[in-house]
Amino acid sequence: MRAAVCRSYGAPDVVTIEELPAPELNAGQVRVRIAAAAVNFPDVLLIADKYQMSVPPPFVPGSEFAGVVDAVSDDVTEVSPGDRVLGSALVGAFADEIVVSSGAVTRTPDGVADGAAAAFGVAHRTAMHVLRSVAALQPGEELVVLGAGGGVGLAAVQLGALLGASVTAVASSEEKLDAAKEQGATTLINHRAGDLREALREAHPDGVDIVVDPVGGDLTEPALRALRWGGRFVTVGYASGSIPRIPLNLVMLKGIHVLGFQMLSFATNAPDDFARNEAELMDLLASGRAAPHIGRRFSLDEVVDALQYVADGRAIGKVVLDL
Ligand SMILES: NC(=O)c1ccc[n+]([C@@H]2O[C@H](COP(=O)([O-])OP(=O)(O)OC[C@H]3O[C@@H](n4cnc5c(N)ncnc54)[C@H](OP(=O)(O)O)[C@@H]3O)[C@@H](O)[C@H]2O)c1
Repeated sequence: MRAAVCRSYGAPDVVTIEELPAPELNAGQVRVRIAAAAVNFPDVLLIADKYQMSVPPPFVPGSEFAGVVDAVSDDVTEVSPGDRVLGSALVGAFADEIVVSSGAVTRTPDGVADGAAAAFGVAHRTAMHVLRSVAALQPGEELVVLGAGGGVGLAAVQLGALLGASVTAVASSEEKLDAAKEQGATTLINHRAGDLREALREAHPDGVDIVVDPVGGDLTEPALRALRWGGRFVTVGYASGSIPRIPLNLVMLKGIHVLGFQMLSFATNAPDDFARNEAELMDLLASGRAAPHIGRRFSLDEVVDALQYVADGRAIGKVVLDL
């Protein structure tokens, strides 16, 4: 099978396309012929060995995929060869085939294309868990989303609007803000066009209820300052490359709740919320009420360009590799 391979840590261009033997199937596993895979910021971080965990090279990057089940081990009953599935794994998705445990795949709802199925996972799941459980968003609340044109941000805009919030999108370009508007944002702020703190104060003189922050860096503090008394700030990631430090007096003065989300620890520690949110999300996907915005598609041969595009923060919504 053809696969993208990372043989040493570094920038996206360390990744090469190689011919590898098909992965072996063991007990409890399924083999999926991949049709599409999504490219995520953590893929870039794993290749650079800057993620929260390391994968020793050589490895095949790629964590989100959709395709058709090719084979299952004798003990697997949940899916059968020929079933269309979507799934996730830490690595292995930028290849013609992947072997994962049967629990890592879910049937793709009828009518959902492979690209959308592959792009639906990480960003939408992160946004859903953050909004439903961590921030406990209520209809009518004011929600500010940083990085609103990115994968997690655009999903948070879409789901926030669906859950009844009034959404303010903060992003670096008019193109990204247009995408956020399409997904339901009603207030748009280009943080490169002026001072973010001033812009937020002008848009929301009484403050906002929730900030979702997948970016970090210099945007975090002005966004946190925009919260009203008792507001919730959710830190999700640091795409800017910088983990911000917040003066705690800001938290004290406004009684702000600073909250965090990390997928694995949330799934482990809040299994009931996790299962409920995942089920609600699959219903939204199946009914067509939620769908990922795919900003750009690449072929497997263009994997380095795709990773660089994401690394540069140029992606609008999701980036998909067609296998
Ligand atoms: N906690 C979790 O479980 C979890 C789950 C998924 C993702 N994450 C993390 O969340 C973050 C965002 O993920 P994503 O999929 O939304 O990424 P993305 O699609 O690449 O979007 C990230 C956004 O960050 C902004 N940004 C600012 N400086 C940047 C830089 N130097 N490089 C790249 N982007 C920059 C950009 O927005 P503007 O151009 O508008 O400023 C960009 O749209 C990542 O750090 C990821 O690891 C965490």
